This record gives sequence, C-alpha cells and structure tokens, in this order.
Amino acid sequence: MSLFRTKPIDKIIAESKEEGAHTLKRALGAYSLMALGVGAIIGTGIFVLTGQAAAKHAGPAVVVSMVIAGIVSLFAALCYSEFASSVPIAGSAYTYGYATLGEFVAWIIGWDLILEYAFGAATVAVGWSGYVVSLLSDLGFQFPARFSAAAGTAVKLADGSEVTAVFNLPGFLIVVAITLLLVKGIQESANFNTVIVIIKTSVVVLFIVAGISYVNMDNFTPFIPPNTGTFGEFGISGVLTGASVIFFAYIGFDAVSTAAQETIDPQKNMPKGIIGSLMVCTVLYVLVSFVMAGLVPYTTLNVPAPIAVAIDAAREMASGSPIGSIFAAFPMIIKIGAVLGLSSTMVVMLMGQPRVFYSMAKDGLLPEWAAKIHPKFQTPYITTLVTGSVVAIIAGFVPVGILGELVSIGTLFAFTIVAVGVMVMRRTHPTLERVFKVPAVWVVAPLAAITSLILMASLPWDTWLRLIVWMAIGIVIYFAYGKRHSHLNKEAAAE
Ligand code: ALA
Repeated sequence: MSLFRTKPIDKIIAESKEEGAHTLKRALGAYSLMALGVGAIIGTGIFVLTGQAAAKHAGPAVVVSMVIAGIVSLFAALCYSEFASSVPIAGSAYTYGYATLGEFVAWIIGWDLILEYAFGAATVAVGWSGYVVSLLSDLGFQFPARFSAAAGTAVKLADGSEVTAVFNLPGFLIVVAITLLLVKGIQESANFNTVIVIIKTSVVVLFIVAGISYVNMDNFTPFIPPNTGTFGEFGISGVLTGASVIFFAYIGFDAVSTAAQETIDPQKNMPKGIIGSLMVCTVLYVLVSFVMAGLVPYTTLNVPAPIAVAIDAAREMASGSPIGSIFAAFPMIIKIGAVLGLSSTMVVMLMGQPRVFYSMAKDGLLPEWAAKIHPKFQTPYITTLVTGSVVAIIAGFVPVGILGELVSIGTLFAFTIVAVGVMVMRRTHPTLERVFKVPAVWVVAPLAAITSLILMASLPWDTWLRLIVWMAIGIVIYFAYGKRHSHLNKEAAAE
C-alpha cells in the first residue's frame, strides 16, 4: 500500500547531509538548544494557566497536576530524543512518522503539528497582547480597546463601560516582527532568544525566592478539595483535569527537534537540548505552583495574572521590612518579564513550523517552492513568511479560549504517534545507530502513548471535534495534492 510506504532512514540521513540551495546553516550547540527549549516552554502556561488549574480544578494539589504533566512530558521527551539522535531532520515528528509508520501517518502528523506550532504561536501572541496592553496602561498609555482583542471580544474599560473589539493589533504586529527576525537568520534569532530566556527565567526564580519564605501551610489544607459532583472539579478527577490544562505550559521542548539541521553534531546535542530544557522547566514549574498555592487561598487564583495576585499577598506580609520595597516593584517586573518572555516562545514556535513545512516540501507533499532557502540568510524564508502571515491573521481574529486547548490536543496527538513510532523503529531498525536510547523503552514508550491519550481524553468534546475537522481537511488535501506529488510515490512508480 503506497499510503504506508516508509521513507528509508539512510535516504533521510543522506538528504540531511546534502549541500546546496536547499540546505540550512548549522550554527546551534547544546546550550543554544537548551535555551531554545526553555524559550519555547516558559510562556502563557505558567504565567496564566497555573492559577486557573488551581482555582477551577485541582486546588492546592495543582502541585501534583504540575508533576503529572511534567512526567507525561518527560516520557514524550525521551521518545523525541531517541528519534532526534537517530534521524536528525528539521521535520521532527513528521519525519519520524515518515521513517516508521509511512507517508499517510507522516502527513497526518505534519498537518497536526500546525496545531502545535502555528496555532501555538497565535495563542501566545494573544496572551502577549494582553500583557502589553496592561503594561502600557500602567505606564499611563491606554491602548485603543477596539484594537486590543479578537473580533467580538468584550473589553472592559477602566470606567467600567464595555466595548466590543474588532482586531487584536498588538498580537498581529508582534507576529509580523518575529517573522521578519526569523527570515534574517537562525543565529540572530537564537541570540535574541538566549537573552530573553535569561530574563524570563530570572523573573520566575525571583518569584520563587521572594515568595517561598511567606508560604503559609494552612493554604494547603485541604490539599485536594472534595469533588463538587462534576468530573474535573476538584477531587482526583480535578487533579487530572488540572494536569491536562497545565500541560500547555510544558509544550515547546519538542520544538527543539525542528532545529536539527541547524545544529552542530545533532545526534549528541539534540537529546541534551530537549531533555535539559524540560528538566529545568519542570523544577521551576513545580516550585512556582507550590509558592503560588502557598501564598494565597486557591480560590483567589482564577485571574489573568495569578502570579501577581500571589506576590501581592507576600508584599502585604513583608510590608515594613526592607524586602517590602522589592515586592512593590514586583507586578511591573512580572509584566515586563512576561512581555519579553512570551516573545521568545513565539520565536521558537514560528521557527519550528516553517521547518516542518520545509521538510514536507522537500518530500513533495507540499509544493517545491516552499523548500526554497534564502540565498543570503540561509533560512527557509518562503515558509517562514507564509506561516508568519497566517499566524498574524489568526492572532488578530481568534479568541484565546478556542486556541489553547486545540494546541494541547494537537501536541498530545503528536506525542502519541511519536511514542508508537519509537517502538516500531526498534522493531524495524534494530541495528540503527542511536546515540540516545529511551531507557526501558518497552515500559516508557507505551506509558508515553497511554498517558498522552489520558490527558487528551480529559479535554472537552468541542476540542475533539475541532481536531477531527482539522484532520479531515488535512486528509482531503493529502489525497488531492500530496499523494500525487510525493517523491517517494513517484520514485516507486518509476521503478
Ligand atoms: N509552553 C508554552 C506556553 O506556556 C507554549 O506558552
């Protein structure tokens, strides 16, 4: 069956080593990759969703939700690392699928990754816009409300009145700016990313250090508030739903693998980048959720900036002491950290998407012009510009609620297929050189697939429906275009 024809791995590896007009520039080492990973991971999730997971689903046991989501991510990260160390190609999960499960599944993952990267970037752009508007307002500049959110969103003004927004201009503009940076070069983008990562990690660490001594253990009782009678509202099911909500905060470590062809010695450096960045963020996240839930009762955390609410409580406790004046500057520091920090999340997502398209175009599943590399900047500029334009428009018009869960379900779906792919590849290519191997693969890979499916199952039915519609559109495009133009199919027919 041509649908399930796989692309030979030696061919994939040989193509990645080709020189010429369609090759990318290798400039990234292990630290740049880790910075890329942390750059992608720390974003809207930790700055916004942690509070919601605590207030609506898990209570103080949000700490446990955080650990669960971290473990699911770690399983997936191990699987991604094995693939990235044996098939280091810009296409990431798409290429892994092509090598193991065949062209049709590869297309499905490629199409699914659009949900993660393109829609992910749009989601973060909307979050970014919220923080910028609020920061500008603190500085005395009121951004026109009609142009501050997606069409149809009701925006509350300071005087209590409401206007209906028509377009999210800040979200649109930031995507355009980052797209132009990404056309210019991977090294420039990585350098920009590294600076920002240092700033945003410092903000997160500052929150932990400043807040931890004010944690009140009374806020942890009851640790798991009793279930309200509805699945997902507190109780054990609430902790699980909390994990699927908070999972969004971990998305991004896998984006590192799309930079494989721009990495020096990717077989060694990729696993370091993927697992290293995830570990750093997991530790930070568990501490942030502990401090947040310890500073205030969880019921007060259902707000757009829960970190600011928690730190306000600490500020009151510290008033009068020298540390109190540091706390006074804190809300501003957090907002600046979030504005800068979210831009690096978008950098990595908007960098990953074109590289997946680039790989698909090189295989003939997308038109060939999409694989063109800029003669001077050596970046896949056409796919970067196309992705950037579409994402800018989505960020301008679509509300954040619809976007976030779609990104999570799409990502979990990709994780599931990658986990299955690792097992298939162990069987079909037992002797392939794997610089990094998943430890206890027959336990870890099935767990990666099953735990991802469990988190998917706890997302709402609407989100499932959107996933199914999106996939159906993808399948139609595959049969109308990809299947007929696939290089692999054409070669097989010629033979
Ligand atoms: N993990 C990224 C975020 O939280 C996608 O924004």
